[in-house]
This record gives sequence, C-alpha cells and structure tokens, in this order.
Amino acid sequence: MYSFIKPFWGFLLLLICIPACKDDAPQYVNWAVYLGDKHSSQYSPLTQINKENVKNLKVAWTYNSGDADHEKNRTQIQCNPLIIDGILYGSSPKLKFFALNAETGKEIWTFDPFDDQEYKAFGMGVNRGLAFWTDGQQKRLLVTAGPFIYAINAETGNLIPDFGANGKVDMHDGLDRNVDNLFINSNTPGIIYKDKLILGCRVSESGGTGAVPGHIRAFNVHTGEQEWIFHTIPHPGEYGYETWPPGAWQYSGGANAWAGLSVDEERGIVFVPTGSASFDFYGGDRIGENLFANCLLALDANTGDRKWHFQTVHHDIWDRDLPAPPNLVRVNHNGKEIDAVAQITKSSYIFLFDRETGEPLFPITEVPTSPSTLEGESAWPTQPIPVKPPQFSRNRVTEKDLTTRTPEANAYARKIWEQATEGEHFTPLSENGTIVFPGLDGGGEWGGAAFEPSSGNLIVNASEMPWVLSLSKSDKIGAKNIPKGKSIYNAFCLSCHGKDLQGGDMFGAVPSLKNLKERIDKNQLTQILQNGKGTMPSFNFLPEDQIDAIAAFLLEAPDAEKVKVEEQDTWPYPYYFNGYTRFQDQEGYPAITPPWGTLNAINLNTGEISWKVTLGVYPELAANGMEPMGSESYGGPVVSSSGLIFMAGTLDEKFRVFDSKDGSLLFETMLPAAGFATPAVYAVDGKQYIVIACGGGKLGKKSGDAYVAFSL
Ligand code: HEC
Repeated sequence: MYSFIKPFWGFLLLLICIPACKDDAPQYVNWAVYLGDKHSSQYSPLTQINKENVKNLKVAWTYNSGDADHEKNRTQIQCNPLIIDGILYGSSPKLKFFALNAETGKEIWTFDPFDDQEYKAFGMGVNRGLAFWTDGQQKRLLVTAGPFIYAINAETGNLIPDFGANGKVDMHDGLDRNVDNLFINSNTPGIIYKDKLILGCRVSESGGTGAVPGHIRAFNVHTGEQEWIFHTIPHPGEYGYETWPPGAWQYSGGANAWAGLSVDEERGIVFVPTGSASFDFYGGDRIGENLFANCLLALDANTGDRKWHFQTVHHDIWDRDLPAPPNLVRVNHNGKEIDAVAQITKSSYIFLFDRETGEPLFPITEVPTSPSTLEGESAWPTQPIPVKPPQFSRNRVTEKDLTTRTPEANAYARKIWEQATEGEHFTPLSENGTIVFPGLDGGGEWGGAAFEPSSGNLIVNASEMPWVLSLSKSDKIGAKNIPKGKSIYNAFCLSCHGKDLQGGDMFGAVPSLKNLKERIDKNQLTQILQNGKGTMPSFNFLPEDQIDAIAAFLLEAPDAEKVKVEEQDTWPYPYYFNGYTRFQDQEGYPAITPPWGTLNAINLNTGEISWKVTLGVYPELAANGMEPMGSESYGGPVVSSSGLIFMAGTLDEKFRVFDSKDGSLLFETMLPAAGFATPAVYAVDGKQYIVIACGGGKLGKKSGDAYVAFSL
C-alpha cells in the first residue's frame, strides 16, 4: 500500500511543482559515482543553496558509525559517499560499509568484511568510496576491502553469492605472476563501464621483493570474472618492454593506479592515472624510462588495449604518483570546443590533452634535470613540464622563502636548508637530504579537482609543504657481522617508524616502537607483520628467519645480534629511505613563509590562474594575530552550478563554502573532526544536501566517526 501511495503523492507533488517551483531541485538528484560522475567532475547541478542563502546552512543530520579509534587517533575516513534515490552508501573508519536514509542519517544496513572468515585486514585500510551498478532492476555495490572485491546487494547489504566465490574476488588472482603473499588492495573504488568494473590497485611501494605489479583489470559485474588486463609493467613483446631492464616484469612492482579512474562512455575510453614503480626512491634495479609508471593512460574500456599514453615523470625516484583521477572536461581552446582530459599532479602541474588523440593542448617541453649522485642510479636526463597552465604551488625553497615566523624558527630552518640539496623540481634524492617541493602528498592530491563548466575553471586545493628526504647506505641483509634485525628494520620499517623507533605521521599516526616488549609479544608482532594493521601494509613476503630477526631486535632479545638469517635478497638496493620528513621548524610549523595551503582556480580555456586564496589556518597562530596562513589539506572540493565551492580537508577541522568567482569565503563552520575527504552533494524530495565524512586521523588531528549533512 505504502509503496503505491508514495510514488502517487510524489507524482502529484511534481504536477503542483512544475509551474510553482521550477527552480527547485527535483525529487532525487543523485551522486551515484565516486567524485560525482564518471568524468570525475566533482560538480553538482543543484542550485537551491546559493550565494545569498548559504549563510543559513545548518546541520541536517549527523551519523556516527561508532568505530573510530578515539584513543590513539589512528583511524580516518576518506570516503566520498554515494547517494542514490535517497539512500547514502558509505564506509566507516574500520571499513564497515553502510546504507543510510539520506534525509535523516538513519542506518538501514551495515556490511562488515570482518564477518568473512577469509578476510584479514591486510593493512593500508582506508576506503575512498564505492562503485554502484544497476540495470534498472538489480542494484549492486562493488566495494573493495583487504585484497577482495565484494559484490553487495544495495537493498539488503548482503553478499551476492553468484559474484566470484560466494560474493567476492581475490585481487591476487589473475595478475600473470605469483603474488600470493603480497600486499594488494584498492582504496579507491573501481569505475563501471557497461557490465564491467574497471579497477586499479594499491600495492606496497616500499620496495624489496614485496611489490605487486599494478596492472589494470576489468571484472564482469555479474560473475566477477576477469575480462581483460593491461600490463602497466609490460611483458616481453609488449609496447614499452624495453623501457625496463629485461626481466623486470617478473620482479618489479608498482606502476599502479591507486587514485581512481575516469570513463568517457561515449568514446569507450577509460583514463588511468598511474604511480611510480617500486621502490619509490631508488631505481637502480629498474634503469630506464619505466613505461607505464607515472602515465596518464587512455585504454579501450571494452578490451583494455592502449589508445595513447603520456608519461608525466620518467624513471620516477620521487614518488610522484599521479594522485587523482583525471577530469574529463570540455574546453574552449583557441575558439574551438574540445573534449579534453586534465590531469593534476603532486608537482602541481596540470597536463591537458585532447581526449581522443592524446595531443597536448598547451605545449609540453622536456626540461633538463640534474643527475643522481647515488651509486647505481641513473636519473632520466629530462622531465616533461607544460608551458601552461603555471604551477599552482611554489616549487623551490630559496633563502628568502625560509620562515620568518620567529628568529628562532628562521635559524632552525636555515640550518636544515644549508645542509640539504635545494633545487627546482626533480632534483634527485641524496644522502645529505634533498628538499622536495611540493612535498610527497602534493601539490595536487587524492581529493582531486573540481571542474566548473560555465567558467572553464579547474578548482584544486594545494598543500605548500616542502619535505626533506634522504637515503642512507644499506647493509646487505644477511651479510656477515651486521645486526640483522636492525638492517631489516632500516630497509622495511624505518621509513614510517623512524630512525630511533620514534614513530611519525606519514600514513596517519604511526606509533613509536620504543619499549615494544612491554606491549606486545613475539606472536602478536608476527601477526601484525603478516596481516598489516590499520594503514601499515603486510610484510607477509619476508621469510620466517627475517621476521625472527626483526622480532629479536624490536623486542630486545638478549641474543638479538646473533640471530642468523639466510642471504636472501629481500632488499636488493644499496640504500634505504630515511623516512617521510616534512621541512618544519622547531615547533612543527612549515619552515617556509606562507601560504602553507591554497585553493586555486585555473582556467583551462586560457591556461591562466584565475584566482588563488589561502585555505585553512593554524588556529593558535590565527589567535595570536598571524594573517591567514593556509594549511595542508586532504580531500578535495566540489563546485555547484550556483557558483559555490564546498571544501573541508583543512587542519582547522572546518567546513567552508567559497564563491567560485573569486574564492571569497561565504560560510564556515566547525566539524566534529577534520573532514579529510571530498564532500558529496545531492537532493532528496526537493531538498539539497552536502555531506562530508569527518574522520580526522591525519596531521595530528583527532579521529572521528561522523558523516555530517548540511542543508538550509
Ligand atoms: C607505511 C608505513 C609503515 C611501515 C613501512 C611499517 N609500519 Fe608498522 N605501523 C604503521 C602504522 C600506521 C601502525 C599503526 C596501525 C594501527 O594501530 O592502526 C603501525 C603499527 C605497528 C606495530 C604495532 C605497534 C603498537 O604499539 O600497537 C608494530 C609492532 C609495527 N607497526 C611494526 C612494524 C615493523 C616491524 C615494520 C617493518 C617490517 C613496520 N611496522 C613497517 C605504519 C608502518
């Protein structure tokens, strides 16, 4: 009865509405695809919330999933949820998936991968979104958790048993190489094209024999069967094979697309942004240009065949992964309408191509770059730099860029700066430290860019935080007379847990491992290494004797130095990476002059920057009267057709609305925890909402478990 009456009243309302409320949002305006649509536009056509009334925004509902790590603040939520016909689908800090009533925030169902006996967290567990498929009748969600793709009935939250093996597919299978023990997942959702789920993956980039090749695959949405594969590390006989040493396809990993994909459904092209090859910071075992790492790839979405590609960094030794799915845009270029594809980068360049041909719309020059001083390394002699648009953040720390916040801060910064190698982008890492700017998280990052079709502006947030990175000579694992556990620790663990076991904050909060034996025994440590934990990857590929040696070292066994390991080359490089270190002053503020974070509008028609404003504040500095300085940000903007930009993502835990015309601030409010995610915009029953996941857990901020929806 109810189901009959509801559409009837809906229809009646529509009849009344047509003449009376023409400008109002219709019944449902969905956000049915990750980042808004298959073009990754981060754009909403809704206009109910506009420049005049935005000041009246208020919280419509808050949903608390109840599973944040409030004590250690190690969980995050990076999810850009889907909203389809009044139901919101999202994920929680510990990767439970759920459906909510999008008008009230009331929970409808949850799906917890931990209920699956075979599921192990396998580490690196953040989730950025879900994929939705329907033929108009059946509705299924395709989600990834651990190494599995699960197919869930969107109405009930139950697994769909005829997909894969009882509702799931193991991403380890079908990669044309044995990767059984290795870490693989997909923190961004795949993209739907016809009856296919096209999917990239996240793999370990920390090197050693532990990295999975990041091949791109399509799976049948009904059966889970793998329909095609594109080798991002080419096999013998394939295009690009000779850009690697012979045989690298059998041992090299990475060149994966962790940032998500975009699809041009009309042309049947899937656009794939790939990342660096593993190991991120040393490429002596992969001398060459390394196609298809760091590429924007245009693949035939039906077959996986390559149509064109452009490599944005040759032989990447800086971890310059392409960080976001490209925006498929229409631009007016020299008076001609062109369907184009725009790719943002961590270096804060934007590459713009004709979607069909791969021709760059603005010239790109190969600029000579400095050689590497590292043994066995061979940096590529040039790197591609677009003539236009200009970089949307600074790229060089000169003496005059050093912080002047206080005399002490300036002196502290100067000391680090004088010791390190300072150069323009693409100065190779060295043993004494290299300033990498924009830093490892960008520049542009995984929150992506929003495109406003009416102005041709690409809206992108940028962090302006330099990092100081270095490598040290590594001991050969298993070589004689070296404390084995320590050399294995240096190779595999130090990058996150620090030189002195002090911990860090690169992948969320990384705990200190000091006095570990007071908290953890050997069994528990072995478990953590096999499965990974939170955002820590699994080290299942390490042989038992190497795990024993690490355990002896970390648990301070009396005979730690004597534990023997076989000469097994799990770490085949002459260097290890000294960790993800931001260039900060003695109080932890950026060691350069502001702005430390910006929001930018770049006109893709002209290739010029339309406007730039600082984004975010350090509350305690602002309270002391420091001008708006900006902060790092995670998560991206959404632009609406009423000329509003919705953006959270900042250190100050705020949600803001900007005017898309000039970046002026129209509204701001505190969130229950930092919204390190991209908002979603939708309408139900004629009412417009903006929802943002507030998971915190980065930049030293508290973790949260809330989704907050705003409306008028
Ligand atoms: C990519 C960064 C990263 C790397 C590399 C890494 N870890 Fe971790 N590790 C983490 C994070 C993040 C956590 C916290 C996980 C959580 O509790 O959610 C963690 C937790 C741990 C814990 C649990 C500590 C506690 O007090 O609960 C141990 C033990 C540990 N790591 C050991 C290691 C060892 C040994 C290695 C090298 C083989 C390693 N880690 C490599 C990021 C990393």
